[in-house]
Amino acid sequence: MKQPKPKDDSPKGLMSKAISIAVVGSGYVGLVAAVCFAEMGHDVICVDNDERKVKALQGGDSLIHEHYLPELLERYRNGKVRFTTDLADATRTCSAIFIAVGTPQSETGDADLSYVEAVACEIARSLTTYKVIVEKSTVPVYTNEWISRALVRNGIDRELFDVVSNPEFLREGTAVADFLHPDRIVVGADSERAGNLLRDIYAPLTTGEYYKREDGIPGICSVAEPPPLLLTSTKSAEIIKHASNAFLALKISFINAVSNLCETADANVEQVAKGIGLDTRIGPKFLRPGIGYGGSCFPKDVAAFRSVADQMGIDFSLLTEVEKINVQQKKRFVSKVRAALWNLRGKKLGVLGLAFKGDTDDIRESPAIEIVKMLIAEGCSIAAFDPAAISRTEQVLPASANLRYASDAYDAASDADALLILTDWSEFGELDLKRLDQSLRYSIIIDGRNLYDPQVVADQGFTYISVGRPAAHPVRDLAAASH
Ligand code: UGA
Repeated sequence: MKQPKPKDDSPKGLMSKAISIAVVGSGYVGLVAAVCFAEMGHDVICVDNDERKVKALQGGDSLIHEHYLPELLERYRNGKVRFTTDLADATRTCSAIFIAVGTPQSETGDADLSYVEAVACEIARSLTTYKVIVEKSTVPVYTNEWISRALVRNGIDRELFDVVSNPEFLREGTAVADFLHPDRIVVGADSERAGNLLRDIYAPLTTGEYYKREDGIPGICSVAEPPPLLLTSTKSAEIIKHASNAFLALKISFINAVSNLCETADANVEQVAKGIGLDTRIGPKFLRPGIGYGGSCFPKDVAAFRSVADQMGIDFSLLTEVEKINVQQKKRFVSKVRAALWNLRGKKLGVLGLAFKGDTDDIRESPAIEIVKMLIAEGCSIAAFDPAAISRTEQVLPASANLRYASDAYDAASDADALLILTDWSEFGELDLKRLDQSLRYSIIIDGRNLYDPQVVADQGFTYISVGRPAAHPVRDLAAASH
C-alpha cells in the first residue's frame, strides 16, 4: 500500500541548521515563539498542561486574535510544531527548553513564579543529558538562580544544564512581526555553550537569511539590516525586560500628565508630543496620550519592578508615581464625561472599544472596561461595541439592565447622549460621521484616544472632546454662545 507523504512544511531556502526546541506554555508569548521558531526552520514541541488548549491548537484553532498567527499555525501545526501535554518527552528530545508560562501578579505586587518553579521541577524529573533552559516569561532578576537551585535540589548535576534569559518584547496584535523583526534580541547567558546555542537558534534572523524568503512575514528588518543580538549576563537580561516595560509605561504616564497640563493651559498635546519626540534622545514613540495604559504586561511589570526594588532596599518611588498617574487618567476621563453631560445618572452612552488597545481581543487590565464599570456605577446605561473583545468582556461583565452589547459602532451610538471612544481600533477613526450624527441623541463625541482631527469633527456638527487638546464645538454652538 502507498504510504501517505509526510507533511513538507520546512521553510524554503533556509540554510541554518534546525534545532529541536521545546516551548512550555502556549499563551501569547509561548504560542507566537513556537510558530515563529518553526518559521525560522527549527523543530518545535509546544507543551501545555491544558489538554483542551492542546487539542484546539492541534485542530488549528489559534485561540487568540493575533495577526499572521492563523497562517503560521496552519503552515506548521502537527509538522514542525507539535502540540502536546508531555513535558517529559519534550525535555528528553529538545536541546533548548523555553519556559513561557504565566507570571501573574501576586497580592503583594510581586510576580507569582510558582508556575515557573513547577515547570523547572518537572523538567528535572526527565533531564538526563545537557539542556539549555531559557526564561522567556517576564521574570524578576535572580529567577535564573532560583531555577538552577530548583533543578539542583531535584538531584540534577549542575553540569547538565544552563539557564539563560531571553526576554520577549512582543506587542499583542503585532507579536508575530515583532518576533521575526525585532529591534534587538537579548540573550543573557553566563556560559559560552548556552550563549552559542541561542546564537544558533536566532541565526536565521541575525544573519539576515530569513529576510531573503519571498514568503517571509514582512517587517522592519531586512537582509541589509538584520536585528542585532545583544549578549549580556543573565541578571542584566532579566533587568532589561522589566526596565524596558517600566520605561515605556513611564513615557505614557509622562505624556498623560503633560496632556492634563495642556488641557488646563489650552495647548495641544499632539503638538507638544511631536515637539519633544523630534529630539532623537527622546523619540516619537509611546507618546500617545489617552486613558492610561493597560494590558497583561505594563500594570503587572511596573508593580513587579517596584516590588523588586523595594525588596532590595532601593527607593524607586518614581514607579509609584507612574502608577498613580495611570489610575488618575481613567478617573479624569470620567470627569470629562460628567463635565460634558452634567449629571451622569440616567445618561445613555455609546462606548466604542473594550480591548486594552486596538487589534487585540485581550481585555486584561483594560482601561476601557474600568471606565465602563465606573460609568455604570455612576448610574449610566451603556451600549458597547468592540470588533473583537465582546465575547471575552461578556464573561466578566454580562449584559444587564445597564449594559447592552451592540452589533456595530452605529448601533452603540443609537439614541445615546454621547459617544465615547475608549480603544484605538483604526476602524473607530474612520466612522461615517453623518450616520453617527443621525444615530446619536446629542452630537457629542468624547474621544479617549485622539483618533480624530477636532476641527474636522466639529465641522460635521459635533462637540468633540479629546485628550490634551482644546475641545472643538460646531459653529452653530459657538454662534449661540456669542449671543
Ligand atoms: C507591551 C510592550 O510594548 C512589549 O514590548 C512587551 O513585550 C509586552 O508589553 C510584554 O511585556 O509582553 P503590549 O502590552 O502588547 O506590549 O501593548 P502596548 O502596545 O505596549 O500597549 C500597552 C498599553 O499602553 C495599551 O493600553 C496602550 O493603549 C497604551 N499606550 C501605548 C498608550 O496609552 N500610549 C502609547 O503611546 C502607547
